[in-house]
Amino acid sequence: MDDVSDPEVGVGPHPRPWPEDPKYDVELLRHGDRRNVVDRYRYWSNEAIAADLALHRRAFHVAIENWQHDFNIGTIVRNANAFQAAAVHIVGNRRWNRRGAMVTDRYVDVRHHPTIGALTSWAAEAELALIGIDLLPGSVSIVGAELPRRSVLLFGQEGPGLSRAAREACSAVLHIPQHGSTRSINAGVASGIAMYEWLRRHGG
Ligand SMILES: C[S@@+](CC[C@H](N)C(=O)[O-])C[C@H]1O[C@@H](n2cnc3c(N)ncnc32)[C@H](O)[C@@H]1O
Repeated sequence: MDDVSDPEVGVGPHPRPWPEDPKYDVELLRHGDRRNVVDRYRYWSNEAIAADLALHRRAFHVAIENWQHDFNIGTIVRNANAFQAAAVHIVGNRRWNRRGAMVTDRYVDVRHHPTIGALTSWAAEAELALIGIDLLPGSVSIVGAELPRRSVLLFGQEGPGLSRAAREACSAVLHIPQHGSTRSINAGVASGIAMYEWLRRHGG
């Protein structure tokens, strides 16, 4: 019969002698590192990983509207960590379900804005184009569209999608082409595709 028992995740206690660099976490060296981190960061403290990631962030940001506690935010934060977005901006409610983030929120710069107006002012000051990502009447396919290097990719909520205020604030609204019967894909999935497209254009 197949062995379906859980494979051991991560690495066990570090063999002696231990490395002395302060980036290493003594508890992880002693007990092992079972976190979901790439091998390069094994045994590093969370703070050391966050500081190292911060040195290599990309020029794009991502933002999501959160008026009804959108459950996709965790996935967007996880994707932002994987694709090295400069920061994630949550517009509206400050509370969000962290489960889908799989603790990557420890390493991502997550910021809050009470309204679309506040996000728009911040983006203008930071000289970032606000680009809506949604499949709406009048939206343009992301495939051939201009996708500025310095941009904030703004996602809407499950259900209503981008609010009217958000659409009006964006310099462009880009969609991911679909070919089936559903009106939209999940916002977390859309965020991964859009971030990947940014990296494909501007360098990984
Ligand atoms: C479930 S959709 C919103 C509803 C959608 N506007 C509708 O008419 O049913 C939630 C969010 O996912 C993102 N999204 C979903 N499908 C997309 C697509 N094909 N292209 C771009 N973004 C998409 C958008 O940010 C959207 O606001």
